[in-house]
Amino acid sequence: MKKIFLLLLMIFMVSGCGGESQNKTPAEPEKKSVEQTPAPTDKKILVVYFSRTGEEYNVGNITKGNTAIVAEYIAQKTGADTFEIKAAKPYPDEYEACTELAKKELESNTRPAIEKNIDNLAQYDTIFLGYPIWWGAVPRVLLTFLEANDFSGKTIIPFCTHGGSGLAGTEREIADACPNAKVLDGLAVVGKTAQNDFPAVQKDVDAWLKGLDY
Ligand SMILES: Cc1cc2nc3c(=O)[nH]c(=O)nc-3n(C[C@H](O)[C@H](O)[C@H](O)COP(=O)(O)O)c2cc1C
Repeated sequence: MKKIFLLLLMIFMVSGCGGESQNKTPAEPEKKSVEQTPAPTDKKILVVYFSRTGEEYNVGNITKGNTAIVAEYIAQKTGADTFEIKAAKPYPDEYEACTELAKKELESNTRPAIEKNIDNLAQYDTIFLGYPIWWGAVPRVLLTFLEANDFSGKTIIPFCTHGGSGLAGTEREIADACPNAKVLDGLAVVGKTAQNDFPAVQKDVDAWLKGLDY
């Protein structure tokens, strides 16, 4: 079909019947259609996160975790798939009890079991990784997930929610757990803001993603 089209086009040009349009190169229409097609990409994005519901610092009893809210918005904006890390044994709903357990886990550097691991990580190049700050660190269950998978050659973009301490150097912890991954600077969102002020979350995430060229 293309050959016939080119042949007809050549006859058309040689015969000089093109009038004004003979100045146009035959390649023009093809070029236009190429430009209109978005660049093909096989790079897939994943948002992985751990988040807790129940009684939480400064927000009362929540049915959707602060980090989950941010995670879902990042996924919506980037068209990413999501994977939620869940502890095999759920953390207590009561805030105080949860902080005590988390403190013990941190002190003993435990790796709590996860409910299930992801089975298709290989197909993703970029992973947004979300978590709450627990005792100035990432929850140990996040490390269980990171150490159970191979992040070689992947880009990890951390984001956290917190009660005031910000990222607290957690990018370093992630880089240590995934030595062959590239770990970018993260985003920190105050938990109460995530829970109660969604427009502020949108504004912060939009600006951050823009800075990352998303
Ligand atoms: C066990 C535990 C420890 C926490 N430690 C800190 C902390 O060290 N610094 C901080 O700013 N917030 C801390 N917080 C508050 C959480 O980081 C914050 O509320 C976060 O948004 C909770 O996210 P989530 O709802 O996704 O689990 C802690 C909360 C819990 C439950």
